[in-house]
Amino acid sequence: MNFRHKYVLAIDQGTTTSRAILFNRQGQVITLSQKTFQQYFPKPGWVEHDPNEIWYTQSLAIKEAMAKADVTDTHIACIGIANQRETTIVWDRETGFPVYNAIVWQDRRTADYCEELKAEGYSDFIQQKTGLVIDAYFSATKVKWILDHVKGIRERAERGELCFGTVDSWLVWKLTRGSQFITDVTNASRTMLFNINTLQWDQELLDLFTIPSSMLPEVKSSSEVYCETSTPIFKTGIPVSGMAGDQQAALFGQLCLEEGMMKTTYGTGCFMIVNIGDKPVLSQNNLLTTIAWKLGDKVTYALEGSVFVGGAAIQWLRDGIGLIPNAPVTEQMAKSVPDNGGVYFVPALTGLGAPYWDQYARGAIIGITRGTTAAHLTRAALEGICYQVYDVLIAMENDIHAKPKEIRVDGGAIANNFLMQFQADISRCPVVRPCIIETTALGAAYLAGLAVNYWKDMDELKEQWSLDTIFTAKMKPETALALLTDWHKAVGRTMNWAMD
Ligand code: G3P
Repeated sequence: MNFRHKYVLAIDQGTTTSRAILFNRQGQVITLSQKTFQQYFPKPGWVEHDPNEIWYTQSLAIKEAMAKADVTDTHIACIGIANQRETTIVWDRETGFPVYNAIVWQDRRTADYCEELKAEGYSDFIQQKTGLVIDAYFSATKVKWILDHVKGIRERAERGELCFGTVDSWLVWKLTRGSQFITDVTNASRTMLFNINTLQWDQELLDLFTIPSSMLPEVKSSSEVYCETSTPIFKTGIPVSGMAGDQQAALFGQLCLEEGMMKTTYGTGCFMIVNIGDKPVLSQNNLLTTIAWKLGDKVTYALEGSVFVGGAAIQWLRDGIGLIPNAPVTEQMAKSVPDNGGVYFVPALTGLGAPYWDQYARGAIIGITRGTTAAHLTRAALEGICYQVYDVLIAMENDIHAKPKEIRVDGGAIANNFLMQFQADISRCPVVRPCIIETTALGAAYLAGLAVNYWKDMDELKEQWSLDTIFTAKMKPETALALLTDWHKAVGRTMNWAMD
């Protein structure tokens, strides 16, 4: 690698922020820039983004991260992309204009259609091919919705004039000014159109969802030189050489490279993923089988439990109801009361994901008395995040027939010591916080850097993981059990709430 190539640029396009991070060869963050963008909620249960704003904020973040480090593109070895998954964008192949807003992974508008598919007996068919549970979460029903509801769009799609992509495809399209229309296997595996056994788009699924195959991007591995940039952001072309859905990127960034290694990311949602090796074993406990990454010809699979609302519950306390001024304050507030005062917050704000998969569940705060304070509600929100992660952990243990040695954690919220300690108390499994918490971006950087020999191999990467804190259970088991019993009672009250 040329000595001028000092850094890898990671793009981490998430649900609420577009981020750009420069990493050095030691895997350290040199500069980070992030930009928030508008969330649109046109109807209850609907969530949209403006694809052009995604690109605009992403390009601003890239420019700012480079300016802060005082680097030009000649210092950047390559670019890796991690992105919010499932979020669906359809755009015009000729002009590059989106035909509709991005329908975000959290959006529930296709829930009724998903229920029809289940009632018609498609669950096993879809799980066998895709590893997924039928749910509005995934892209397939969102693409179908756009084709069915935006005037004139189906005809244009059938004439081959439109592209469908997840955010990775959209970003590469923009980075190359429309010359590359690609995705990677990890993102493809979240669309409910991709067969995780054959590693191809599945014609039977395309027929079921009435989606023309001409709309689909070419599927690539997670680490290879795909193309060079041709956007005016950079003066020269920079190789784009790593791409993965953000949760898979985080698994890679945590260096969970061996079978049985597990991580949980506390972002907008919470996503627990365990590496299950080279066979796509299907879950018996309502988890998802998904592709962790493909390096060369070697595919690694994972089991995933997706919790839809994690950090978003805290965001809602702050922005939705103005209960707290900022997220960090929640640690002190939670610690200021001895317990939750009997209050449980089930953050099913966009339905419940794994292991419940209830599209019609809605959030609830229950157990409120006259003695309930803002501190209790805040504590209940943090606890609610941990209980959900616990529920996924139990499903995972049942699937892998083992208790994991540890859970590696990442994401912004892991700075909250109350959250981490409570997670360890409830889960009775060590919760391991690394020094670098920007693991999603780091994973994308690693995938990109490996493809251009910025890093030699995985052994070199393994040296870079370092421990910050291990949280172990301090709570009495009977206390944890009593809390979990009440939590499950509370979850029961929220189920099917929004069903007609
Ligand atoms: O599956 C959705 C997930 O990729 C979103 O991640 O980090 O934006 O919450 P995040």
